[in-house]
Amino acid sequence: MKLLLVGGGGREHALAWTFLRDDPSLDLIAAPGNPGIAELGRCVGADVIDVGAHVALASREGVDLCVVGPEAPLAAGLVDALRGAGIPVFGPTRAAARIESSKAFAKDVMRDAGVPTARAEQHTTVAGALAAVRRFGAPVVVKAAGLAAGKGVVVAQTIDDADRAVHSMLAEHSFGDAGAEILVEEFMDGEELSIFALTDGTHAIPMLAAQDHKRLLDGDRGPNTGGMGAYAPVSLATGALAHEATSRVFEPALARLRELGAPFTGLLYAGLMLTRDGIKVVEFNARFGDPETEAILPLLESSLLDIVLAIARGDGIEGTSLRWNAGAAVTTVLAASGYPDAPRTGDAITLAPASARGMLFHSGTRRAPDGTLVTNGGRVICATGLGETFDEARRASVALASSVHFEGMQVRRDIGWRESARDARAPGN
Ligand code: AMP
Ligand code: GLY
Repeated sequence: MKLLLVGGGGREHALAWTFLRDDPSLDLIAAPGNPGIAELGRCVGADVIDVGAHVALASREGVDLCVVGPEAPLAAGLVDALRGAGIPVFGPTRAAARIESSKAFAKDVMRDAGVPTARAEQHTTVAGALAAVRRFGAPVVVKAAGLAAGKGVVVAQTIDDADRAVHSMLAEHSFGDAGAEILVEEFMDGEELSIFALTDGTHAIPMLAAQDHKRLLDGDRGPNTGGMGAYAPVSLATGALAHEATSRVFEPALARLRELGAPFTGLLYAGLMLTRDGIKVVEFNARFGDPETEAILPLLESSLLDIVLAIARGDGIEGTSLRWNAGAAVTTVLAASGYPDAPRTGDAITLAPASARGMLFHSGTRRAPDGTLVTNGGRVICATGLGETFDEARRASVALASSVHFEGMQVRRDIGWRESARDARAPGN
């Protein structure tokens, strides 16, 4: 089987690693891929949002399956174009991907489907938004409606901070068109969880829940990032919670998208907040999350490739279930100097041998002309540690992270601190 994987981050390295584990004879092509993925298959340079180039590549190579990793090509209509060319593809159409690319659309879907989420108002004028901020009161959340790489959200503790965010997005266009429409949203308090569901458009198969760490610094301080680390499973995420997410979040949202003529197939990601009033959706993404994928996939025992292929071919997945390893995984992200605002690139990366159980997934790396591995993005490498227990996995992740070095490396040393705190409180300790 020949598979084209679109993307070149840690998520795609973890996907490539999983697909090769499922089928060691797989012929993998990645566009653009990265030096980690290059050890598993062939990398073809391509601009990730160049739809025409990917369709031409997939047709020329006669691939049996295409898997799209990042959100930008989904929002650009890559799945529609590949389907039009008769190529089986895993991922939502452009219309269905609006569940991520337009936060306003996502809110409408949730409202119409009765999916629990924070109250929100949509605004395009400064005056309207400032009035909404006052109606909600602080703390309040201001969000750019469009795609802003996870950075278009301001959780404002004061009315002044919220006003500044409104001005910055609507008057100063700090997120360009993505912030031409904003949401003013009720603040939710609680612990966050990421739950992914594989879906054929009707049925949802939830994967193990993970917890991301969005802030740059230890103790959840500093600016928001794309994610500085993750772990799975999360002991808070019981079977009952997965069931609730399926019946109250995934199934109704999928049903509403079908009604709108935009059935969603692929991977639907729900960012959930466990509030005092029950689960509420923070956001949907139309793709695997990064870095959660790097923690979740190494624990999967069933074949991801089989189910992804079934979904891409349009087969139903009702009754399919996933088998998971009983252990734990912790992923620590090694980020570049200057991340998230202005990551520096081109720093040489050295990798020392490490004996800890797990793997290094490449995110923003590239080979310099002389073959040296250098930094090439904000998040550079993801160190996934594995263990029988959370604490073993955490120690393995820290050890693997310590085996990597580059100038100015930023790394959190407290990934999974909430789980550690729960472990410490558990009976018997
Ligand atoms: P989003 O891009 O919508 O996931 O938002 C990024 C982060 O901002 C989330 O992971 C939350 O930590 C935080 N956030 C977003 N919306 C809210 C909300 N309504 N209440 C509290 N925190 C929020
Ligand atoms: N880790 C958050 C995301 O992938 O959007």
